[in-house]
Amino acid sequence: PEKKVFDLTFKRTTLAPDGFTRSLITINGQYPGPVLEAKKGDRIVINVRNEIGEPTAIHSHGMFQRGTPWFDGVTGQSQCLIPNNYTFTYDFTVPDQAGTYWYHSHAFTQYVDGAVGGLIIYDPDDPYLNEYDEEIIVVLSDYHHTESEILLKKFLSPESEVPDNGLINGKNSFNCKKAPKGSKCVDNAGLAKFEFVPNKRYRLRIINTSAFSAFFFSIDKHEMEVIEVEGTYTKRNKIHRLPINVAQRYSVIVTANQPVDNYIMRSEFQKDCLPDGGKKLSIVKAIVHYEGAPENSAPINVPWKDFLEQCIDLRHETLRPLSEERPPKATKELELTIAFHNDSSGVVKAFLNGSSYVPDLTFPTLSRVFAGEANHFPRDRNVHVFNTPGEVVDITFINTDEGDHPFHLHGHQFWVLGFGNGTHVDKKSLNTVDPIKRDTSTIPASGWIVLRFVPDNPGVFGIHCHMIC
Ligand code: C2O
Repeated sequence: PEKKVFDLTFKRTTLAPDGFTRSLITINGQYPGPVLEAKKGDRIVINVRNEIGEPTAIHSHGMFQRGTPWFDGVTGQSQCLIPNNYTFTYDFTVPDQAGTYWYHSHAFTQYVDGAVGGLIIYDPDDPYLNEYDEEIIVVLSDYHHTESEILLKKFLSPESEVPDNGLINGKNSFNCKKAPKGSKCVDNAGLAKFEFVPNKRYRLRIINTSAFSAFFFSIDKHEMEVIEVEGTYTKRNKIHRLPINVAQRYSVIVTANQPVDNYIMRSEFQKDCLPDGGKKLSIVKAIVHYEGAPENSAPINVPWKDFLEQCIDLRHETLRPLSEERPPKATKELELTIAFHNDSSGVVKAFLNGSSYVPDLTFPTLSRVFAGEANHFPRDRNVHVFNTPGEVVDITFINTDEGDHPFHLHGHQFWVLGFGNGTHVDKKSLNTVDPIKRDTSTIPASGWIVLRFVPDNPGVFGIHCHMIC
């Protein structure tokens, strides 16, 4: 194992990823931030220099933080905010995990303003190591021309918000006619370009860093084989389109086996979940350029439906872990109901079992545990206490909201035992034999999900909807 040191400076600057100039949080001058790369077993040291102009904290999404829960990066929960003009060092090892992850600010709504980057943990024992020649990292995102603070207000009001655009690896073009008068905007900012060498096999690591948006990801004329979900190897799964929700990650193998040419990589908004049906949004595109193909010719434009009888989307039901591991029996059950309603001051908020978690910025929850408060959290704080070893927990979410909610569990993965519509959990339909294990899963609109996890990682860890913060 090695010690990998990363120096990251978070700073607000103006940038125009899609041609429209706005203020963004950059990391070492970049958006998205640099990809952090390490391998299983390494020690990762991240020196976060905060020059944003406001306090921050950085979370490594999907890292278990075994033995270092204080480096989970959640404000008011695992640490105090890092003040402006201070440096804070995260220092943790990754003894038992490898796969596709990301890091992002976990303070306020800063990640939506750009404070995101990929985090890849390579696996020397990767069972698929001989099945691909190169790796490509694909960071998807919805993109907003408005500051996230304003978005958050809209998100919590009946108005709702539709993104202005979407990006692949921080690039896309935008039609400036749609920009408000007086804004700085240039057309044809350009698309991301990926180089394919004929017959090479690529492992694409796809990360959705969006604030709100789920996408369908595909490459024209190319099949993909899913092999990894958030640190879990899967059985080979041939598909054409990959649905990917906020904060989720997948690895797929794509072979450059088509005629030498330019092809379109697509990230389509899953529009039905956007308030106005996302009418003004077009497909987010990038170029796959085969070595030897003309550099500047338009890529052939062939949606799946034009040359395939049927397009196979990834379905949860067909996702199977590569090594079958039967989850242990649950010893505890927790039911959480998601509902949106007005709080006492008339602001619409999301509630779990009638309460909203309030980060304690002056006395983080983890510090309270160290101070001996673990067993008397106020009931309305929504803190649940589990004991290790021995406990296995089934969390059933009942979503009374009309929107999907991508939920993420910190410090652990969970098995997705099953989900469905309505409020009645169909226990007989649960898969307790070979369910997939991941860290971010969609709770269907007006529906339910059952997640099982083993609380074997002492600390304070959040479970939350990943939309906008
Ligand atoms: Cu991406 Cu609380 O996490």
